[in-house]
Parts: sequence; C-alpha cells; structure tokens
Amino acid sequence: MTRHFLRDDDLTPEEQAEVLALAATMKADQFGHRPLEGPRTVALVFDRPTLRTQVSFAAGIAELGGHPMTVDGGLAAMGKREGVEDVARVLGRQASAIVWRTAHQSDVEIMAERSGVPVVNALTDEFHPCQLLADLQTVQEHKGRLAGLRVAFVGDGACNMGNSWVLAGAMAGMQVSVGAPEGYWPDADVVARAREIGSGTGGSVELTHDPVEAVTAADVVVTDSWVSMGREEESQDRLRVFPPYGITSELLGHAADDAIVMHCLPAYRGKEIAEEVLEGPQSVVWDEAENRRHAQKAILMWLLERS
Ligand code: NVA
Repeated sequence: MTRHFLRDDDLTPEEQAEVLALAATMKADQFGHRPLEGPRTVALVFDRPTLRTQVSFAAGIAELGGHPMTVDGGLAAMGKREGVEDVARVLGRQASAIVWRTAHQSDVEIMAERSGVPVVNALTDEFHPCQLLADLQTVQEHKGRLAGLRVAFVGDGACNMGNSWVLAGAMAGMQVSVGAPEGYWPDADVVARAREIGSGTGGSVELTHDPVEAVTAADVVVTDSWVSMGREEESQDRLRVFPPYGITSELLGHAADDAIVMHCLPAYRGKEIAEEVLEGPQSVVWDEAENRRHAQKAILMWLLERS
C-alpha cells in the first residue's frame, strides 16, 4: 500500500516519533542516507508562493541522492487545462514521490488516490504537516522532550498552522492552548480528532479568546501570519481583530521564563510578532527553517520505504 502524508494524523503517534528520530539522525549525518540514489526524481509542485518549502525540499532531495523536479503550478494550470486526476497519473509515471502546495485538501487527496506514488502535502488551506515535523524537531532539540510541554498557539488559529499544531501537538502528548479571536479557532472536527488522539497520548487541546490565558506558563509560544495565502481580501477585517494577539515582550512575559518562540515564517514584524521577540534570545525561528530540510528528508525516506 502506498503511504502518503497529507495531514498530521496520517502518521500514528508512534510513527510520528519514528520520523522525528530519523530526522534527528539525518541532521547529525546529512549525507548518510541515499534512498533516492539513481538519481530518482521527486516532483515539487507549487500552486502558491514558496521560499522555505521549495529550497528545503530541493536541498534535501539532493542530499538523499535524488533529483528535485520543480513544476510551476501556474504553467501546469491544473484544474483548468486538465484535472488533478490526469495530472496525478502523469506525474506518477515520472516521479518517485510528489510534493504539492495547493489550496484545497480535497485536491491533494485526489493526487494521492491516483498517482500511485507517495504524496506529501507541502501546505493546503487546512494543514501544513511538514512544518509541524520541523517544529516538533526544533522543540525536541531545545527542550529535550515533547510530551507534557505546554504550547500556546496565538493568533489565527483557524489557519493551516493552527489545525496542524492541535493535531500534531496532541499526537506528541503536548498540552496545546489556542488563543484566537472569535471565529478564528481551529476547525471543530480537527479539534475533536486531536482530543481523541490526545486521550491516548496524554495530549490535550484548550481553546480561549484570551491571549494571556493561552500563553500563561507556556513552554512554547507559536504564532503565524494573520493573513494566510488566499485570505488577502480579508486583510482589513483581520487587521482590526488580531492586534491584541500579537506576540509582544509583554505577552511573552506570561510564558515560562525559558519559553521558546516559534514562527513558520514569513513574519510580519509589528503585527503577529514584535521585532524584539522575533530577533530576541527566545526565538528559534531560524532553527525551524533549517529543520524543514531534515524533517522532510525523513518523511520522504520513511514513506518511500513503506510504499
Ligand atoms: N498560514 C500561512 C503559512 C505560511 C507558511 C499561510 O498559509 O500563508
């Protein structure tokens, strides 16, 4: 059976731990794993802007002995020129795996059903599971563990990063508290699923509209842009409700003294995160950006070995 990574809970909690352990091994020995020797090709398809995802996958696939083949989603015009069902079968005949950034989760699901090779979600409106593997690897490096840590996700909890944090965090046995304005909590079905998983791992999810309550005693403070890709038309409304949720030094003062601050980037200084916090001693954002490569190499190799 071909395995895919379309959302965080496509892995079991045990499998998540396995992939994170592999990512740590790969970081320690960056050229020691060659599952794509040949070179075998991995298709990287982007329908949306990208920096970290493109460069970390391209560099990582090269380190695995493979060839990254970037496909411009605009040129391919999927859904306009031809349907995802057909593109999936064409890509699956050329590539050993497909990595896709696009808007709709339902489309990556069709790609996975039809391509015959592992498909990795490189961000949809609903989930950003590759970022979460990198984030968990980063937390593990700085805190030495995941289970039992308190995570505050503050800002737009309804975006891909909010959904992925409640799911992946609960899977890792973390206590995730989301502080977001009314209407911006993570998806209710995702929260229910995260709580169900958490009942087996010791993880939990709390939702509040109070940013101070979310951050109080947190070991890990996370935020993301208030205006995700595809939401640009809502900018004015969002910029009215989100300012109390910006990670300032004052808000961070409610977290544990040794809390780390995370942001998947791109960051908008003075909005969701203050300049002095992003550039301050508690920020681990550049480690997160680097760990994209190690974590993604791990999930690619793990999927290929099981497919
Ligand atoms: N929530 C952000 C993540 C960017 C990596 C977005 O979807 O734009």
